[in-house]
Amino acid sequence: MNKPKPRSVVSILDLTTDEINGLMNVADDIENNPDKYREKCKHKILSTIFFEPSTRTRLSFEAAMLSLGGSVISTADSQSSSAAKGESISDTVKVISNYADIIAMRHPKEGAPVVGAMKADVPVINAGDGGHFHPTQTLADLLTIRRTKGALSNLVIGLCGDLMFGRTVHSLIEAMLRYPNNKYVMIAPSELRLPEYIREELDKAGVDWEETESLEYAMPKLDVLYMTRVQKERFFNEEDYVRLKDTYILDEEKLKTAKPDLAILHPLPRVNEISVSVDDDPRAKYFYQTLCGKQMRMALIMFLLGIK
Ligand code: CP
Repeated sequence: MNKPKPRSVVSILDLTTDEINGLMNVADDIENNPDKYREKCKHKILSTIFFEPSTRTRLSFEAAMLSLGGSVISTADSQSSSAAKGESISDTVKVISNYADIIAMRHPKEGAPVVGAMKADVPVINAGDGGHFHPTQTLADLLTIRRTKGALSNLVIGLCGDLMFGRTVHSLIEAMLRYPNNKYVMIAPSELRLPEYIREELDKAGVDWEETESLEYAMPKLDVLYMTRVQKERFFNEEDYVRLKDTYILDEEKLKTAKPDLAILHPLPRVNEISVSVDDDPRAKYFYQTLCGKQMRMALIMFLLGIK
């Protein structure tokens, strides 16, 4: 008899608002009582299969499992796994289901983690699929906003840079739409505007949102500024990338008109879009965001493994 498929997280929409809030509460408890969690995943194995480069997501997943007392098996790129010989996602996850209790997968093809989740016998977490979704980055972003601003409502949120290909932006918008009374300022050159389906979601939700190409125009309004990198790997030609890559460079001069309690986030890696001089500004939260990411991944791993 076929076993029921375990719960996976491919999109942030796979989690209810109550579940997301619950995960943030667990992450806060992890922050305050790390010793309570040191053996929660003893004898459990996480497999990270990453077919695209990553520093934060893969290593924070692995650090999360190790901090819970579990173990990790990993393929860091497609060339070091049998994907290089043409093995399908479906076969890969079926095999790994015999070796691991949970899988975190990154893949350049949009939708690959959906296939993984359908075929695996263990929970699959989407660790980023092409220009599509990155739900665990969103969990990190939500926790960072909640901790730095005290709430996820009544905020003016600016999203700046590559809103077309930036998967973290798409997931974050879908999550923030669940929290009331937020306003959005989308800051991007016309070629990198939000894709149509996200624009439709904003309109359908009836939220207050506007678009501008000017970071200077948006700056004084914002409670949160979410900067993003122009996604070189998603461009079809180098010329367009070179023309657009430095459209926005956040520096101390541009921050002169910002609110004193602005929270500056960035999913990282950054290239040029935030000057290193901003790193010492107390409003810069992007390195703190990476700690929030590890704590949320710890909470999510326990949740999907049914560990209280
Ligand atoms: N934010 C993020 O996904 O970073 P990595 O690509 O380094 O995992």
